[in-house]
Amino acid sequence: MAHPDLSGLSLLIAGGGPDAFTAVEEAFKEYGGAVFRVDVPGDALKFVAHRAVDVVLADAALFAQFNRKTQELVDSLTRKAVVYLATDSSKGDAAEILAPGVEDYINKQIDPMRFIQMVETRLIKRQGGSTALTVTDPLINKLRPYFLFRSPAMRAALENLPSVAASNQTVLISGETGTGKEIVARAIHVLSKRAGGPFMAVNCGAIPEGLIEGELFGHEKGAFTGAAKTRKGKFEAASNGTLFLDEIGDMPLLLQVRLLRVLEERHIYRVGGERPIPINVRVIAATRVGLKQAVADGLFREDLYYRLNILRIHLPPLRQRVEDIPYLAFHFLGRAFAEMGVHPPYPPLSTASIDLIEGLPWKGNVRELRNVMTRVATVLPHDTKQVLPIHLTPHLEDTEPQPHIFQTHERELIRDGIYIPIGTTLPEAENIIIRETLKHAGNNRTQTAKILRIGIRTLRRKLSETGQIDP
Ligand SMILES: Nc1ncnc2c1ncn2[C@@H]1O[C@H](COP(=O)(O)OP(=O)(O)OP(=O)(O)O)[C@@H](O)[C@H]1O
Ligand SMILES: [Mg+2]
Repeated sequence: MAHPDLSGLSLLIAGGGPDAFTAVEEAFKEYGGAVFRVDVPGDALKFVAHRAVDVVLADAALFAQFNRKTQELVDSLTRKAVVYLATDSSKGDAAEILAPGVEDYINKQIDPMRFIQMVETRLIKRQGGSTALTVTDPLINKLRPYFLFRSPAMRAALENLPSVAASNQTVLISGETGTGKEIVARAIHVLSKRAGGPFMAVNCGAIPEGLIEGELFGHEKGAFTGAAKTRKGKFEAASNGTLFLDEIGDMPLLLQVRLLRVLEERHIYRVGGERPIPINVRVIAATRVGLKQAVADGLFREDLYYRLNILRIHLPPLRQRVEDIPYLAFHFLGRAFAEMGVHPPYPPLSTASIDLIEGLPWKGNVRELRNVMTRVATVLPHDTKQVLPIHLTPHLEDTEPQPHIFQTHERELIRDGIYIPIGTTLPEAENIIIRETLKHAGNNRTQTAKILRIGIRTLRRKLSETGQIDP
């Protein structure tokens, strides 16, 4: 059976007595989650006020003792986490506290795996925090160490990757910048019979025209002035492995002819060399531009195009696989936190944040998303419980929201105003207002106090109270 992955998720167990829920606790930990315990509902509230938890599993009978307060408690908890109430069905206490907002009522004796499944389905639906959807799909699982995705569009694009990898044919990978062409090329190499051999990459767009030939095929001693020694090119260096020709569309026409011949005849000539050198190399080419158009424009040879195009993988841009956006975003956040030495659980993206990033065009695709998330993680205040749009917008300077998702006035609001999502408490809202105004005023407190029409001392007190900034 597929192995659940709860890493990064945390569970708070409230009440139930020392012996209750131990099976759930153990299973949750075994699959990488963190578990905390409190004895009374009040402590659960205090706990979630200071730490981010994803799931609360609370003893319903215990909550019921709080009578009228139960709904209030549940309300506060459900804003911070997904709450399950465990009932002892024989006593029928579920009916007593049919609290709206509770995700589900479960039996105290629930099978721990069943509970874990519920949590995965519920929490992983939009958040990238774990991998419930992915573990059931062998293709996604196989590529996971190299390449993360969960969208049907990407799945369709990579459907044939294992068989492509198994063959020895030339592959052409196309896609906008930052869609992952190079890691797909590496994945093909690693999953192929050539995995033990080298993977060599040549960026045809980055090497001056006159040097590409020598770079690819090497040169003989004395081939030209300054060629004091014989030098092997990338084709020879990639022997028994894979040669990745990046930006193949930038290859000069003359060299295209030579490349075609090499692919057909399977041997090369070093520059200035007379002797054919047999090569055993698999070629993977990548292009950002539509090569077919380049052929039509006379910039790319048609015969080479057809020779390269035998096996084709096209990677769709990120905006056409929206399901991958929160998933990758959370992955990159987590990676940045880990690199900073921060321990999990990491603050999740709020629903509003997910809506925001799902609506952006991401012209730089996954690379751009990674860079934004790295910046967000780096400057996120330590006690942040959720990544809110307010944390994201300062890092989205060049990323215009798509017009059909955000109306102009809403966009302006996000740009010049302060975004406070529904569900924010009054004290939290105040913190956000103060923090953002302070940022706007370039950390000038006098100015900030003036804008907020409060005294500088009041501002100082509020800042020190919330522990955001030292007084
Ligand atoms: N699905 C993915 N999962 C994890 N990381 C990804 C994914 N797609 C892209 N990346 C990361 O995004 C960055 C850009 O990917 P890559 O270099 O493969 O893009 P590219 O298509 O070759 O871009 P370019 O055309 O600009 O060269 C890399 O750091 C890569 O690790
Ligand atoms: Mg690349």
